[in-house]
Amino acid sequence: MSYVAAASAPLRKTGHIKLYGPEGFEGMRRAGQLTARALDAVAEMVRPGVTTEAIDQLIFDFALANGAYPATLMYRGYRHSVCTSVNHVVCHGMPNPRPLREGDIVNVDVTLVLDGWYGDSSRMFAIGAIPRRAERLLEVTYESMMRGIAAIRPGGHVGDIGAAIQDFVEPQHMSVVRDFCGHGVGQVFHDEPNIVHVGRRGEGPQLVPGMIFTVEPMINLGRPHVKVLSDGWTAVTRDRSLSAQFEHAVGVTETGVEIFTLSPKGYHKPPYQIA
Ligand code: MF3
Ligand code: CO
Ligand code: CO
Repeated sequence: MSYVAAASAPLRKTGHIKLYGPEGFEGMRRAGQLTARALDAVAEMVRPGVTTEAIDQLIFDFALANGAYPATLMYRGYRHSVCTSVNHVVCHGMPNPRPLREGDIVNVDVTLVLDGWYGDSSRMFAIGAIPRRAERLLEVTYESMMRGIAAIRPGGHVGDIGAAIQDFVEPQHMSVVRDFCGHGVGQVFHDEPNIVHVGRRGEGPQLVPGMIFTVEPMINLGRPHVKVLSDGWTAVTRDRSLSAQFEHAVGVTETGVEIFTLSPKGYHKPPYQIA
């Protein structure tokens, strides 16, 4: 895989890895911070009885009020402003009128497009008190994402990220989903390279300053296998075990890594201490 300056590349997937300059990093900071504020607003409204449709509406309104647009709306036929993945839903769950219930865990995945830049991030939310095994899953999933991000440095390789995640998760008898991965992001929603959440250190494309991509591990309490329901979107665990995911958009810097989608309110992982 080769690298091209993003500024002189077409606005689509080209088979090359785009390298962004300072304007790209600034655009991603602004889009990423807006997405993080949207997720902070979700943290302040979710509780038993709230529907995922209400979360969808909140994000749509928030995006438009801030001069942004939800990237998923009308994307490949998807018709919602967010993905809401409850309990054994791995990803791409669609908002619906069913009220969330005490004990549910839900991933809310938001991508706001601001001035052409895609801020892509997701967090888990616990609805009231959740079972101990669900708490452990959320903890391990968050920690796996942060370990994956901490493995990023210029001169390293994409495989370092997956290795850090897999080597942390599997000894705890949880599994890493293979069917979905992180992706290059920037002025394109899903770009090169794929960021697989398993792997071996030193393998895959080299990490180069200017690369921008997501790290978004999906971790299951049971087996890693998923199936997509007949709606064409909803991915669930085949064994119906609980699944969790966190996602940040990050950039490779000269010295390490910058996270664009950190919560300004410190709502990094549940339980969120609402101000
Ligand atoms: N935000 C998701 C991601 O992390 C993509 C959702 S695409 C949709 O890549 F169409 F399912 F919404
Ligand atoms: Co993503
Ligand atoms: Co996302």
